[in-house]
Amino acid sequence: MATLTRRIGLSLGADICWPICYEEILERLDLSIPVDGDCIQFEVERVTIEPFALLDPPRYDLVIDRLTHWYHPSREWIKKSILLDDVYVFNNPWSVQSMEKLTTYGGMLRLGFPIPETWLIPPKEYESSPDLKPTLERYARLFDLEDVGERLGYPMYMKPYDGGGWTGVSRIENPAALQAAYEQSGRHVMHIQRAVEPFDLYVRTVGLGPQIRHVLYDPSGPLHDRYTMETDFLSPTDAAVLEDMTLTINSFFGWDFNSCETLRGEKGTWRPIDFANPCPDSQVTSLHFHFPWLLLAKLKWSIFCAAVERPFRRNLNWTPFYAIADRDDLSFREKLSEYAAIALKRFDAEHFEEFCATHLSHLDEVAREFFGSDVAKDAVRKKVEALYPDHEVEEFTELFWERIQRWRDSPAASRREKAGP
Ligand SMILES: Nc1ncnc2c1ncn2[C@@H]1O[C@H](COP(=O)(O)OP(=O)(O)OP(=O)(O)O)[C@@H](O)[C@H]1O
Ligand SMILES: [Mg+2]
Repeated sequence: MATLTRRIGLSLGADICWPICYEEILERLDLSIPVDGDCIQFEVERVTIEPFALLDPPRYDLVIDRLTHWYHPSREWIKKSILLDDVYVFNNPWSVQSMEKLTTYGGMLRLGFPIPETWLIPPKEYESSPDLKPTLERYARLFDLEDVGERLGYPMYMKPYDGGGWTGVSRIENPAALQAAYEQSGRHVMHIQRAVEPFDLYVRTVGLGPQIRHVLYDPSGPLHDRYTMETDFLSPTDAAVLEDMTLTINSFFGWDFNSCETLRGEKGTWRPIDFANPCPDSQVTSLHFHFPWLLLAKLKWSIFCAAVERPFRRNLNWTPFYAIADRDDLSFREKLSEYAAIALKRFDAEHFEEFCATHLSHLDEVAREFFGSDVAKDAVRKKVEALYPDHEVEEFTELFWERIQRWRDSPAASRREKAGP
């Protein structure tokens, strides 16, 4: 029996708290997992930014990437690592690069998801280029924004087609406000989307491989209170719909981790409005009570993928999803179950469950203990220090810490979260 080391790389940007917790817990786990006659141990390192040759040997077996969506040298390094070195990366960088918010609406509409009606409007202004004038003169049709607004209906939201971070999002109630928002949009390509109003529940469902967690979200709260600490807000039927939607989305787009925002609108219909979040919020300052869950889910999924050398899915293969979408004999709910079944298979849910039960049964207890330690509290403080003014550091460190302690005392801390059916 050979002892082999799997090296996990963390490709990071402004992240502070979760990498410290990830590294600390992995070390405390002191894993030695038998796989196919070998004994697998783990190391974790932070990926540094430096020149690389395409043929440089791979340093990592698996990379958790938090940088690809905006830092292009890392994106290229990650792409070459997958293509040349068989590294497993989450998330799929090509999919992160190409699946804009609007693209994802298109994909899921095709599968029958009740996405609110959405239009794209050409930008108000352009950066000049030699081809611009002839292109616009020949092909840009003059359009009546008011007419588009009337066809879509009010209230509506205007947001960047590739948006994120709540930038450039406005709620619009009438034609004058629509015109004003368009005037201000400048060179941004915007889409407008029918508002889901009224809604009675707003849920962020976080998926990590086959692991799912639903968080009741309050968009009107301050940043530290938007993820609420409610736990019993979904019926099993509703939870299953959101779980199946999230698994489908994540598997369809090749995202190992992502979050899906869904509003329950009229007639109890769940309408997804934002699910292109392939670098999902991982910060303790917004997730607090839910932060340990995300960390544990990340640890379990990355350890599993690295240990069993889970092959990276090199193409997305949408054909089986389309085959289900095209069936006339199934309702949308039935199709959704079928999509989710593909997703669970692609995420190796059964194997993963069994792996966690066999090799990671002590993880929850190790994490529970860790989240009572000074190291953990210091990690929280470091993140708070980076975001809050000096005079608020103590208060917010205590607030987030107290919420993590609440997680430690909750049943969720002592039982494993659901991973598949
Ligand atoms: N169709 C809609 N119906 C109702 N509310 C909406 C709709 N679209 C957007 N919103 C509101 O606007 C907010 C921001 O929209 P969205 O999530 O699409 O943008 P974002 O920039 O991706 O934000 P974030 O990074 O916080 O996820 C949502 O949290 C929600 O409160
Ligand atoms: Mg959003």
